Amino acid sequence: MTGGGDSSAINDCLSAIVREAALRQIEVIGFRRGWAGVAEGEFMELRPDIAEANSYTGGTLLHTSRTNLLKIEGGAQKALDNMERLGVDGLIAIGGDDTLGVAHKLCGMGLRAVGIPQTVDNDVGETDYSIGFDTAVSVAAESMRRLHTTNFSHRTDMLVEVMGRDAGWIALYAGLTGGAHYICVPESPLDLDDLAGHLKRRRAAGKVYSIVSVSEGVALASGKVAGEVDVFGHAKPGGVTYGIVDELKERLGEKPRNVVLSYLVRGGPPSAFDALLGIRMGMTAVELLADGKFDYMVASRGGDIVPVELEKALARNRTVPLELYQRAQRLVTVI
Ligand code: F6P
Repeated sequence: MTGGGDSSAINDCLSAIVREAALRQIEVIGFRRGWAGVAEGEFMELRPDIAEANSYTGGTLLHTSRTNLLKIEGGAQKALDNMERLGVDGLIAIGGDDTLGVAHKLCGMGLRAVGIPQTVDNDVGETDYSIGFDTAVSVAAESMRRLHTTNFSHRTDMLVEVMGRDAGWIALYAGLTGGAHYICVPESPLDLDDLAGHLKRRRAAGKVYSIVSVSEGVALASGKVAGEVDVFGHAKPGGVTYGIVDELKERLGEKPRNVVLSYLVRGGPPSAFDALLGIRMGMTAVELLADGKFDYMVASRGGDIVPVELEKALARNRTVPLELYQRAQRLVTVI
């Protein structure tokens, strides 16, 4: 099953799972719409040829949903009953910390499951990379590179907002590789005077435009603005740059432009790196289930794909270390 926000390379991962399983004479079904489909018993047969037709495409052929089974009365039991009824020997849960958190809880109730980290946010613990992150960075960096020319022509400053929730990985990596002149991440409260000062300094040095990479979860040093929350209790991000450009107008006299890349970074075909990661993680997940190793997640560590306990992976979110962010910020703000 695939749950939570989608990304690219999920279908490559599913394809590898189905083919690795076929090699071991294991049949595979795919539950649809995340945990909702597991609880409602909505599934499709996954044969190697179905999976092959869908690899190299984005999204998830199983569809997804943000369903917190633990908040639905009797939801977890319904899911376990369906496993029994359908004769499912093991489940592979593909998703971020919310989806994997439900898998871990259900393992405590007797489910035999392993997890695969998949989120553009790259915030799952104990793994260097989650499926979808690399593609999201590539799309965001490419967008930033395109924005240089139009902002040069118009002599305007541009804030580029990217996804990431409470982790600034996309903003940091895309900012560095997309040529941003300032980077804002949730891990470090944004000092608007510092940002405005930098934009002014660049103008004074003869630069006619600046690109600012902004993570959607960034908080203003002056105090965070509360918003809506989702079923897992997370604040719903998106649109923070609209408030920031208004604040900057007061400091600069002119209002910078902003663009919210939002779902664009989650769509489309995967990078080769992501496709390979999905394939390697899918193969290893099947191996773990076949070996009877449950309540684990496959993780990318130093180039290897290794099992880590789900509990350990979920213990804390992987955020950008402050020192790394500060080094990057120093580099991009040299001019
Ligand atoms: O958790 C992944 C993520 O892509 C976040 O970066 C983003 O804030 C959120 O999902 C948006 O998800 P939804 O599809 O629920 O709007």
